[in-house]
Amino acid sequence: MEINGKTRICGLIGNPVEHTLSPVIHNTLAEKLSHNLVYVPFLVEGGHEEAGAAVNGAYALNVLGMNVTVPHKENVIPYLKETDSLAEKIGAVNTLVRIPGGYKGYNTDMTGLYRAMCSEGIVLKNADVLILGAGGAARAVAFLCAEQGAGQIYLLNRTLGKAELVAEEVSVKCGRSCVIPMQLSDYDKLPDRKYLAIQCTSVGLYPDTEDAVITEPEFYQKIHTGYDLIYRPSRTKFMRLVEEAGGEAYHGLKMLLYQGINAYELWNHVNVPEKTVTEIYERMKKELGIVEA
Ligand code: ATR
Repeated sequence: MEINGKTRICGLIGNPVEHTLSPVIHNTLAEKLSHNLVYVPFLVEGGHEEAGAAVNGAYALNVLGMNVTVPHKENVIPYLKETDSLAEKIGAVNTLVRIPGGYKGYNTDMTGLYRAMCSEGIVLKNADVLILGAGGAARAVAFLCAEQGAGQIYLLNRTLGKAELVAEEVSVKCGRSCVIPMQLSDYDKLPDRKYLAIQCTSVGLYPDTEDAVITEPEFYQKIHTGYDLIYRPSRTKFMRLVEEAGGEAYHGLKMLLYQGINAYELWNHVNVPEKTVTEIYERMKKELGIVEA
């Protein structure tokens, strides 16, 4: 692609940024869709103030859009012109879209997860959901499930106090008491039915691939579908345990794919064709060395 006077810039701010797959996603999209756009990583060291300087600097430099990753997903919010309502509730943004006078923040991690689930035929509406974890990722997933009309949501965490805080916050902000906090070890007290389980902890992440938050097979008897936000490895211990108990299991790479697709669509006001989505997914799998049937 020729970089010329009309080339638009998008980028990622975070720390660290060098292992990101986002440039692969967005530069391939730009190439496939013949957009004059380049996507680059920007290392932003420091905290709140530096994140703010980066957002204001990007706007001054006419940067079209930004992704935001750890540790700045909350830091950038005070520097935005607007925040989308789901991102506002979650309190974290990963995508900034240029609007007159500044950027509007979105959380395409969650809209991306939703789209990834839809693409696998997983239904959230009225589903009984188990969320494993109560950190930033689990909290965002709890908001997504509540907003998408899930039935009963159980938030299971090693530290009960953290699960209680998240459950309370989601219930208050979403205006319905739909999240029940629970200690991980109390899973045998769950009502006897089949659940969609979303694994939102870092347990099982490469290189600790033999770990799972719960290892007892009895727990996995309760699960019809298991979704792990982890994609490295592409078949986690959690996924293996779900499958061994007869359930369907998915890793998080499509979530990463669709958070990027959603961001690209917001920046460029386009709908990325399904054929292109598939091509990008294949490219991501190749980058990660994932071979799937
Ligand atoms: P993130 O923001 O990526 O979600 P985080 O805020 O560090 O990450 O949260 C990590 C989650 O993984 C927490 O729910 C944590 O449980 P605690 O709240 O009890 O700390 C969970 N977690 C991490 N290691 C764990 C382990 N070995 N067993 C069970 N849960 C674990």
